[in-house]
Amino acid sequence: MRHFLTLRDFNKEELQEMIDLAIKIKAQQKRGESVPYLKNQTLAMIFEKSSTRTRVSFETGIYQLGGTGLFLSSRDIQLGRGEPMKDTARVISRMVDMVMIRTFEQSKLEEFANYSKVPVINGLTDSFHPVQLMTDYLTMLEFGKENPVVAYVGDGNNMAHSWLYLASIMGFELRIATPRGYSCDSTIAVEAEEFAKKSGAKIILGYDPVGAVQGADVVTTDTWVSMGQEEEKERRVRDFAGFEVNSKLMSYAKEDAIFLHCLPAYRGYEVSEEIFETHANEIFSEAENRLHAQKGIMVWLDMHRDD
Ligand code: CP
Ligand code: NVA
Repeated sequence: MRHFLTLRDFNKEELQEMIDLAIKIKAQQKRGESVPYLKNQTLAMIFEKSSTRTRVSFETGIYQLGGTGLFLSSRDIQLGRGEPMKDTARVISRMVDMVMIRTFEQSKLEEFANYSKVPVINGLTDSFHPVQLMTDYLTMLEFGKENPVVAYVGDGNNMAHSWLYLASIMGFELRIATPRGYSCDSTIAVEAEEFAKKSGAKIILGYDPVGAVQGADVVTTDTWVSMGQEEEKERRVRDFAGFEVNSKLMSYAKEDAIFLHCLPAYRGYEVSEEIFETHANEIFSEAENRLHAQKGIMVWLDMHRDD
């Protein structure tokens, strides 16, 4: 059985298989065919943090695959009152077929997976957001960016870490520009460098947004204040000055460059209103693709239950 906890747990071929499934299932849905790949299966969705896209896309996705989604906010289940993760895992995984968790530390997700009898999917942790990155990869392909130069401008956070794995495993060029003091985790960066040697990826980490965006095919960013960091907002907004993706910064990218944002977006901070609205088609296609990419992941995990 395989879990989907970080992209580093998969090789390029496996990630490509999930994307291919997503493309196939999306096309079937657009043709009006509903294929019950996960008939009568139940997906439990545990949320210790807020969500719009992750909740709606997983719940709708499992329903469209012939199953049912169970929304479990930690405010409502005993986990929120201190029941251990490992007990929660042993109870829930005896009743459902798959589990998605959004939580804080990656170690909590790993603990759940260690005690789970069914596949577990990372719906975002403080360290990673791998389902979002599969979505972003699918979206880049749809917009014709097959071997892209990607510039990520902003916080060295869960999104940046997952970009590091995606690029280094799939083999494309990724440039990350963060303010000083907000770099990516060095262990993850070193590991990405190792993967890059094998895949032919190019990973460039620095502090200069203009240098990163120069000639890029894809420009992306994320909020400067992630969930759980609300108290740091004032300091972060000060430290991230000069890192807004606005028309001036975007003008350094290729003329046909696309702009991606995992959302929610905070205009006037990590992205300007103008850039956001100019690229709304890409951004909301990306949002829709959460549904399709995650169906590919769930079906793939179901196919590999006996591995
Ligand atoms: N991008 C993303 O994960 O959005 P939500 O927080 O709304 O789920
Ligand atoms: N980095 C953000 C992503 C939100 C989808 C957060 O963790 O809050």
